[in-house]
Order: sequence, then structure tokens, then C-alpha cells
Amino acid sequence: MALDTPILMKRIPQGNVANRQTVWYDGYVATGGYAALDKAIAMEPSKIIDEMKASELRGRGGAGFPAGMKWSFLPPPDGGHRFLAVNADESEPATFKDQLLINTDPHMMIEGIAICMKACHLDTAYVYIRGEYHHHRVTLEKAVQEAWDNGIFGEKSRMGQINGRTPRLFVQRGAGAYICGEETALLESLEGKRGWPRNKPPFPAVSGAFARPTVINNVETLATVPAIIENGAAWFKTHGVARPEGVPPQVPASYGTKLYGISGPVNNPGVFEDHLGIKLSALIGQHGKGMRAGKQFKAAFHGGISMGVLGTDQYDAVLDFDIGKRCGVLGLGTACVTVIPQDVSMVAMARNCARFYSHESCGQCTPCREGSNWAYKLLSRIEAGEGTTADLDLLSELAGSMGSMPGSTICGLADGTSWAIRTILQKFWNEFEDKVAKPRFVGLALR
Ligand SMILES: Cc1cc2nc3c(=O)[nH]c(=O)nc-3n(C[C@H](O)[C@H](O)[C@H](O)COP(=O)(O)O)c2cc1C
Ligand code: SF4
Repeated sequence: MALDTPILMKRIPQGNVANRQTVWYDGYVATGGYAALDKAIAMEPSKIIDEMKASELRGRGGAGFPAGMKWSFLPPPDGGHRFLAVNADESEPATFKDQLLINTDPHMMIEGIAICMKACHLDTAYVYIRGEYHHHRVTLEKAVQEAWDNGIFGEKSRMGQINGRTPRLFVQRGAGAYICGEETALLESLEGKRGWPRNKPPFPAVSGAFARPTVINNVETLATVPAIIENGAAWFKTHGVARPEGVPPQVPASYGTKLYGISGPVNNPGVFEDHLGIKLSALIGQHGKGMRAGKQFKAAFHGGISMGVLGTDQYDAVLDFDIGKRCGVLGLGTACVTVIPQDVSMVAMARNCARFYSHESCGQCTPCREGSNWAYKLLSRIEAGEGTTADLDLLSELAGSMGSMPGSTICGLADGTSWAIRTILQKFWNEFEDKVAKPRFVGLALR
């Protein structure tokens, strides 16, 4: 079933991701591209922010923070530089939606960047892209060059001067560390330093890149902006999930469409746009064309591994920003779904997650550095059939106590470690009990 009014994929033909062609500047303009920027140029910057706030667009990078509100946090211009950092690191496991946008319709994001710069008086923008995305970076650099050549940026920018300066957009390549997707680690890396997250406050809106006011937004968030400015907030809010009756307006809803990824043993893996609020079962059934023959649904990571796992009985989970409360997970995350079939061991899955986090922890905070490594060691022992019930208790305690939300770490990588492991434990506890209850020789015989 195709979405009746796609926002992000309107120029992108459905089908195999690998066969999609890049829409370059001329093709983008021919289908109405940069009209939203022209509209924004004619608006007062504060009115652009008002429209964004009214749209209630929530960040698509994982945390779901309202974009218009974030834009409004910057202090008034004081004559110094002001920056936009675009997060194209996309290193969450099994997440590949931003790459698709960059590779197929880069100007949609670039137009969103220009509108954000205009609204927030930002003179310089950087797209920070993961080092391994070589192919996408080449595409992006070509599109950015086109934007300079066609008067979006540079001396002859149709936006004129912003913040008393020539508006500029650059591509900055990261080295390929998961932690550099965390916004303050990204800023450190952008400044040429080791990608270590910063303590907050101060928040980037006040002291970000080079200690100057900075907006940080995800690729998909910015790519959604032109449609909102072109068609208005009210139109945008006809997509997605409306706020339930009685919920106060300050509680953000789940408006708009979203890029959903599907990987795992389904017949049609890929990236698909649909309304926020689609059910997991519909995503797998309609877009993913069902489970592959011989495979049965067991669980799914619905937003990268950091949000935690949905259990077998959560096949009908509604994928919107409220999923955390409803389904016992951290949040919606990237909405890139990894489907796990019945024949995969959740103990092995948990061990694999712990291994990832232990490798990617930057090491600044003891609960994260030591906790992820201990979790990996405990899970390795349990998976090998050598664990004890005391190991399981220790693992549960560890998984329940790490993270910036309990306030024990600087950034959210530890929360991801915690939620991945704790939800697997909660929802598949019997698999762990089976492993530790068995005498050693049985465990070995089963492997
Ligand atoms: C460990 C970690 C990795 C992250 N990786 C990414 C990433 O690859 N891309 C991204 O957009 N956001 C990532 N985030 C979230 C960013 O810190 C930030 O919330 C986001 O870029 C803000 O953009 P948005 O408001 O448009 O979503 C990560 C967060 C953490 C804690
Ligand atoms: S939580 Fe982990 S990744 Fe984040 S700053 Fe602390 S040690 Fe580094």
C-alpha cells in the first residue's frame, strides 16, 4: 500500500534501494524544489520558527525533541558566528534511512538546511557524515557543490547575508565511531578533537560548535522542513497521530510521516515512508511483504538496538513517539526495524549488543565503560552455558542502573546499553534461565 501523500519519498520511486537514482539540482527544481526556501526568504525568521513550532515536528534522529522549540532556544545574534551541525553519522545498528535520503534526494535536506539557517540566523552549516559512507559522501559533496553553484550558498546566495556573513555549507567527514553520532561528541569531532561527549549544560544552543550558538538536527528532520514551510503546519498535522483528547498541548504528539527501515528475514527489506503510528505488523506485512518462508516472528528492535526490544506479543505495537510508555521500551528511536525470527537465540542477541556497546563506549564514565564490558563478559559466560543464577542477578542489576537518565553517565550511550539488555532480559527471561539452569555438559551439547 503506497502512502497517499508522501512527504519525503515523493521524488523517489519505490522499489529496490540499490536501483534508486539520485535526484540532482535540476530534477529537484523541476518538481518544485527550493520553492519552500523562496517562501522562507520572504518570511520574518521568527515566523518560520513559529510555523515549525506549530507543526510539532519532532527530531527524527532518535530522541524526538521538537525541532521548532530547539530552534527557538538560541540567544539573539551578537555579531559572532552561529552554526548548524547536521547529524549524518547514522551509526545506530541496522539504521540506514538517512543514507537513503542523502543518496537519492540530497537537495531536500539541503533546502531544509538553508531554511533552518535563515530562521535561526546561522551563517555556517556542516553536514557531519560518517567516514564509512564514502559513496554517500561523494553524492552529498556533488549536491552541495550544485547548491553553491546555483546561488543557495556563497557570495551570490539568494538568501543574501545571514548574521552579517555569507551563508556557507560544508561537508565534514567523521572517522566512523558510533559515539560521534551523539550530538556533543559530534561537535568535538567537528572541532578536530577526540569524539568525547560533553557535559551539559551548557547546551549546544548556547555553546555548541567552537563555543558558539549551534543547532544540531538529523538529516531526516531537516529534509522534512521544506514540506512544512511550503504547505503549512496544519497540512503537516493531517499526517501521523493526533494528540489524544485531554492531553495538554505542551505534550508533543506524533505528527507527520516517518521513514521506517526494515531489515531481517522479511521478503522485501528496505526503507519505506508511512504515517507515524503504523503498526509493526502492518510495516512487516505491507511494506516488508511478510516474513520469509520458514521464518516466524519472535521479536523486533524497532528503533535501532538502543531503544530496546519488542517481544513476541508486541507484534501489533504502534510505532509512534509514545511507544516507550506503551511497550516498555526507551522510545521510538530511528524507527529502523530489525526483525528477529524464532530460530535466533535472545541470549546470543543480548551478548552481541553488549559486545557492540563495550567496543563503542568512549570510556569517560565508569558505569558505561565498566558496565558494558561486565555485561559482555557475563553474557559470554551465560551463552557458553557456564553462567550461574548469580550472574543473571548481577546482569539484571547492571542493566537497571546504567545511563544518563538514572544520572550516572554523561551521555545516552549507556542508556542504550541498559535498555537493549534489560528489555531482552525482561521479555525473554526464560531463555536465560534455561541457559543457567542447565548443567554444563548439556549447554555444551546444545551448542
Ligand atoms: C550514542 C548516541 C548516538 C547517536 N547517534 C545519532 C546518529 O547517528 N544520528 C542522529 O541523528 N542522532 C544520533 N543521536 C542523537 C543525537 O544526540 C541528537 O539527539 C540528534 O542528532 C538531534 O537531532 P534531531 O533533534 O533532529 O533528532 C545519538 C545519540 C546517542 C546518545
Ligand atoms: S556514557 Fe559512555 S559513551 Fe557516553 S560519555 Fe560516558 S563513557 Fe562515553
